[in-house]
Amino acid sequence: MQKTLGLYDTTIGKKAVVAVTGVVLYGFVVVHMLGNLQVFLGPEKFNAYAATLKGMPALLWGARLVLLSSLLLHVVTSLSLVATSSAARPVGYRQLRHKTTSPAALTMKYGGPALFFYILFHLAHFTYPGIALGHYKHSHTDVYANFVHGFSVPWVTGIYVVAQVFLGLHLYHGSSSMLQTLGLSHPRFEKVKELAPQALGLGVAAGNILLPLAVLAGIVR
Ligand code: HEM
Repeated sequence: MQKTLGLYDTTIGKKAVVAVTGVVLYGFVVVHMLGNLQVFLGPEKFNAYAATLKGMPALLWGARLVLLSSLLLHVVTSLSLVATSSAARPVGYRQLRHKTTSPAALTMKYGGPALFFYILFHLAHFTYPGIALGHYKHSHTDVYANFVHGFSVPWVTGIYVVAQVFLGLHLYHGSSSMLQTLGLSHPRFEKVKELAPQALGLGVAAGNILLPLAVLAGIVR
């Protein structure tokens, strides 16, 4: 008997899942960066912002649940798409040519998994369990102090900066393909399709790189 294909079993269904979960994660990354930029307003404002979020447990845990499910669906579905396209061509190309492939597209393959491990590292560093990677004690209430102490360690800042470059490229390439998947193909949108992913990828990477570097430069202390 023939099995009916569900939407998730099709390539287009999987691409739609990657696109929609990508939008959720993208939204979080932008909001998170804007929230973190409040570190420039000083310890009271920054800690008050963190305390406000923790003071709304239902909203916080709801958002965490949506984020975690989106991340897992995004990763599992992307891996399944990669597996499907490799299976469609079991014998590799004799000579690999990346004629139309941008450096960002190439980094998706390695950048995606790298970002996943970065997120695990970042959560362990700042959230749970909160690992002090220098000579200080992690505090579960003084987020500003964790921020300053954490990024005063140059190799830690180095990891964050490299990760944000991967993140910028991932956001750039991911949002380009997302606009394609969501069917924004009218010639009128050509310029938007080209510029929006570049501006967003660069904007998020630059904002996030500014944060640890501001600590190392002594601007945030
Ligand atoms: C340089 C860039 C970044 C800085 C400075 C930063 C800073 C922080 C800080 C200080 C916290 C702890 C907040 C608290 O304890 O209240 C945090 C939590 C978190 N960060 Fe980041 N972050 C950065 C980039 C990212 C990126 C790129 C992602 C995801 C792709 C991310 C995902 C998270 C998540 C999921 C949490 C936990 C939020 C929660 O409590 O549920 N962060 N971040």
